[in-house]
Amino acid sequence: MSEVAPALSVEAVSVDFGKRKKMRAVSEVSLEVAPGRTLAIVGESGSGKSTLARAMAGLVPIAGGSVSLLGEEFTKPRRAQRRNIQMVFQDPYSSLDPSSTVGNSLEEPLIVHERMSRPERAKRIAELLDSVGLPVDAARRFPHEFSGGQRQRIAIARAIATNPKVLLLDEAVSALDVSTQNQILVLLHDLQVQYELAYVFISHDLGVVRWLGDETAVMYMGRVVEQGPTERVHSDPKHPYTRALTSAMPIADPVGREERKRIPITGEPPNQFESFAGCIFSSRCPVATPECSTTPPPVVVDQAGGSARCHHIDAYPILASLPKHAATAALTSE
Ligand SMILES: Nc1ncnc2c1ncn2[C@@H]1O[C@H](COP(=O)(O)OP(=O)(O)OP(=O)(O)O)[C@@H](O)[C@H]1O
Ligand SMILES: [Mg+2]
Repeated sequence: MSEVAPALSVEAVSVDFGKRKKMRAVSEVSLEVAPGRTLAIVGESGSGKSTLARAMAGLVPIAGGSVSLLGEEFTKPRRAQRRNIQMVFQDPYSSLDPSSTVGNSLEEPLIVHERMSRPERAKRIAELLDSVGLPVDAARRFPHEFSGGQRQRIAIARAIATNPKVLLLDEAVSALDVSTQNQILVLLHDLQVQYELAYVFISHDLGVVRWLGDETAVMYMGRVVEQGPTERVHSDPKHPYTRALTSAMPIADPVGREERKRIPITGEPPNQFESFAGCIFSSRCPVATPECSTTPPPVVVDQAGGSARCHHIDAYPILASLPKHAATAALTSE
């Protein structure tokens, strides 16, 4: 690991939902992101990505583990820390008040967190709009007057208003068309370089993640099953679940698209209301053996600087020697 203290780190973080009957939405997740770097988190719907992000921001109580921002552990971030970690969501309407002008939306965090005079705030708002590629007069307009991509630029401007060190981007480009997505990704990249921002970039789209993520963590049912340098995770996935995910990446031809429909992994996942000792993927895994459903999988570290939790690293050469679509077929056949 790097010498620099991580901008954000979580250590064995768990999150439970439900009062009488507890559901473990995030289970003992340990991850970190260095200043100016991007940690991508991928996984299917319901795997706990947003819940983990909310735990990172102190927006949901953790049942165990710890969260540290700039080397300082917190359970609920104090105001001084809160300015250092900001979120951007898929739908800018959730962060932008439709009845407020853009200028007022951008001014709010400045009023809460900064000691600035009114003219200083006006100057800062103009700077922020400029840094996300919007004209200064946008400040006088309302969110509905902008396109989806422009609204996301406004949400990003608001998120960086207080010069945070960490941005949590939860499906921040998912609702946008591909060309707008690309523009926002370029903007995010520029801002990251300019302000040394650390990103936690959440997406179900592996293609997007490959472009932006330095490190990638793959979540399945609340657990991180694999993590490592993004290029390694994509080109040489170790965990059977990651292999299924990478093989499910969009294929241009219509025949491939038909096949994609069949990709959802079969088998029943374990009940998240009950604590489950074994590998969370065991009931759906093509290389599972009886011990997989009873014994926690070991963390197997690979040479490229990543790790996967699996009992059957030995089975990987077999799995890896199959073409990717065959590995997927193995996953999808009963
Ligand atoms: N406030 C809540 N109360 C109860 N259960 C919740 C709550 N928020 C999330 N969950 C449950 O926790 C699990 C993880 O949900 P989460 O939203 O974190 O997944 P996700 O990976 O972000 O999914 P998506 O890709 O659909 O956004 C799901 O089973 C979900 O139903
Ligand atoms: Mg989510």
